[in-house]
Amino acid sequence: MMLETLKDMSHFIYPLLESFGYKHPLHPVLVHLPIGMNLGALLLCLIAIVFRKPEFRRSAYHALVLAGLFSLVALTMGLLDWQHYFNGSLLQPIKMKLFIALPYTLLMLIGIFIGFRQGPEAKALLPIYFIGAICVMSLGFFGGELTFTGRSPAASNPRDEGQSLFEANCSSCHPSGGNRIVPSKPIRSSRQLESLATFTNHVRNPSAAAEGQSIMPAFTPETLSDTDMAKLYDYIQHYLSLLDCVPSRDAESH
Ligand code: HEC
Repeated sequence: MMLETLKDMSHFIYPLLESFGYKHPLHPVLVHLPIGMNLGALLLCLIAIVFRKPEFRRSAYHALVLAGLFSLVALTMGLLDWQHYFNGSLLQPIKMKLFIALPYTLLMLIGIFIGFRQGPEAKALLPIYFIGAICVMSLGFFGGELTFTGRSPAASNPRDEGQSLFEANCSSCHPSGGNRIVPSKPIRSSRQLESLATFTNHVRNPSAAAEGQSIMPAFTPETLSDTDMAKLYDYIQHYLSLLDCVPSRDAESH
């Protein structure tokens, strides 16, 4: 039931963000806030004890309050990312993350409550800062397991595959989207990039556009499937839009 709601929310939020040009998971961006605040709280409390500066306990408590609030945000975003990028499947690192994140958020809320009732000097807060810090570091570890072991959306990014396809098939004649053989016909400003269909037609049969026989080889569906074409097209669009920034930056520096 709750997962259904999350799924509905993710169907709404990610397309919305994409329309603003944001195409990444949300949790990895926001998760630094509770991590930083929690480690800060621990450090401030240790300073208060070691250097006998009680006023630092107040700062530590305030950092804990922020860690608690941010952890609610990071948790929600984590659940949304989980629905959107992993389709809600319970991979081992995700199980571990849920197993730690839910008690962690609860711990933060308890800490906020204790500080609120007994003041920032409360002795019970130190273990909370400490256990909290261990939790966020473990969460970071399992987050790394997810993102850096080939399962994450980034690791199977079609754009990376597009780049490999480009380098394997096109870049020898079209380095940086230019054209080494007929310099006046670079990919960069080509009308053939108008749509995926136009692009695919052209790459499948370059002679149709060239006056007479094209030097460019025809790429059959056996060498480059339609899926490959889509990845290649997406990569070229993205890559060339990056290159488009270069002249303007040069113009500024001159
Ligand atoms: C052996 C060299 C060679 C390879 C490999 C090659 N091309 Fe080309 N390409 C050319 C040449 C030469 C032209 C200029 C027109 C012509 O002669 O067909 C061209 C033209 C183009 C154009 C049209 C440019 C315009 O002026 O409108 C596009 C788009 C393009 N290539 C894409 C690709 C893509 C994508 C790949 C890889 C899948 C690729 N090419 C691989 C040589 C190559």
